[in-house]
Amino acid sequence: MEKRATFGSKLGIILVSAGSAVGLGNVWRFPTEVGANGGAAFILIYIMCVLLLGVPLMTAEFIVGRKTHKNQVDAYRSLSPGTGWWLQGAIGVFAAWFILSYYSVVAGWTLQYLISAVLGRVTTMTDSAAYFTSFTQSAWMPVVMMAAVLLMSHWVIMRGVQGGIERYSKLMMPFLLLIIAVLVVGSFAMPGTGEGLRFLLRPDFTKLNGGVLLSAMGQAFFSLSVGMGCLCTYASYFTDDAKLMKTAGSVALIDTTVAVMSGFIIFPAVFSVQEVAPDAGPGLVFITLPSVFQMAFAHAPLLGWVFAVMFYLLLLLAALTSMMSLHEPVTAFLIERAGLQRRAATSVVTLSCIALGTLCALSFGPLKEVRFLFGMTFFDFFDFISAKIIMPMGGVLLSIFVGWYLPKKLVIKEFTNNHTLRFPRWLFVSFFFLIRWVAPLAITAIFINELLF
Ligand code: PFF
Repeated sequence: MEKRATFGSKLGIILVSAGSAVGLGNVWRFPTEVGANGGAAFILIYIMCVLLLGVPLMTAEFIVGRKTHKNQVDAYRSLSPGTGWWLQGAIGVFAAWFILSYYSVVAGWTLQYLISAVLGRVTTMTDSAAYFTSFTQSAWMPVVMMAAVLLMSHWVIMRGVQGGIERYSKLMMPFLLLIIAVLVVGSFAMPGTGEGLRFLLRPDFTKLNGGVLLSAMGQAFFSLSVGMGCLCTYASYFTDDAKLMKTAGSVALIDTTVAVMSGFIIFPAVFSVQEVAPDAGPGLVFITLPSVFQMAFAHAPLLGWVFAVMFYLLLLLAALTSMMSLHEPVTAFLIERAGLQRRAATSVVTLSCIALGTLCALSFGPLKEVRFLFGMTFFDFFDFISAKIIMPMGGVLLSIFVGWYLPKKLVIKEFTNNHTLRFPRWLFVSFFFLIRWVAPLAITAIFINELLF
């Protein structure tokens, strides 16, 4: 049998995993959630969710993937032969496929905005809300842009694990982090910095309720890419000396830093312009920011242009590396289960996602009236099913699988790289406590609260 691919270095492992985690969730979704849920109080809860649920669950996903070196379905099957646990892997494959379809639509918007920014349109448009609406509602451009970003991801995935995913993550991630640093410094130089930072850093605990808790948890899962097996697939390419806990900690740190930095970039900029509200919803980066770029840089349009181009480039790079991590699990499944060649498997995923993505892209325009459950459009439906249902459910099942089902000895062996790494005892105790009790109970409670009330 052909030898299965692995990532070539520890840095590569951290960068591909961080590439999966850092995405639209950080730069687009996080600031929107912070804006809607009252600022710093939300950030504090979010960080707790990352530490208490995100890091242990990510480590658990790594354990399943690295132990088996198989695609998700076979990973669960080989760890629990003759049981139904393989379904957990199958649901993950479906979820990745669904998420990739609607995620590509928003990634396509970022490509459109990057092109507009380069052409100088973002910094000169007179009505940014009208521009956004007419673009997202049109019948062609959102579909073309969605297909274009999917083809970019296709191009990388087709080149395989080391030559594609690792190579391009190593190119894109440092560049992305550099752009963030430059933009943070630029944003701090704006006149509204104080107020923006106050909004971001002063906790308003009166806003807290069950809904905020679920939002913070959902955001943490989405942002860290846990609960649906993408990281499990990446971990199946980890080498045996990769340090799982350390990788999970580094990825969580990078991901949270980028999210908070995105807040630092966006809110001071937003507050530097009096006319716009910080809780503008999903339109924040596509409607509010173009006005901000214009007004804040009215006297230095060239600087405004640079800021806008860098910002949308950042969004596109972040989106692309995450798309790769959604593309790969489905591709790996098709290669290893259906026996397809990588090229064919990648094409099946790309084409089917273009088909599903078209439905999502058009649900802002021509298909706006097609509604499902609770009046949701295709886009809302895909987002709801994957981020609010499958990811938390996947989290519960994963914690039960690793916390209760797998023999403790096997988990410890994997955690410690076959007893070659030393950890203080409290770390194991906390890991098992979080993964056995806290994760399943907390996720179930918050999930039920949201569904019933
Ligand atoms: N973590 C990505 C983001 O923050 O945008 C999105 C994502 C990627 C979610 C991969 C889930 C996933 F499996």
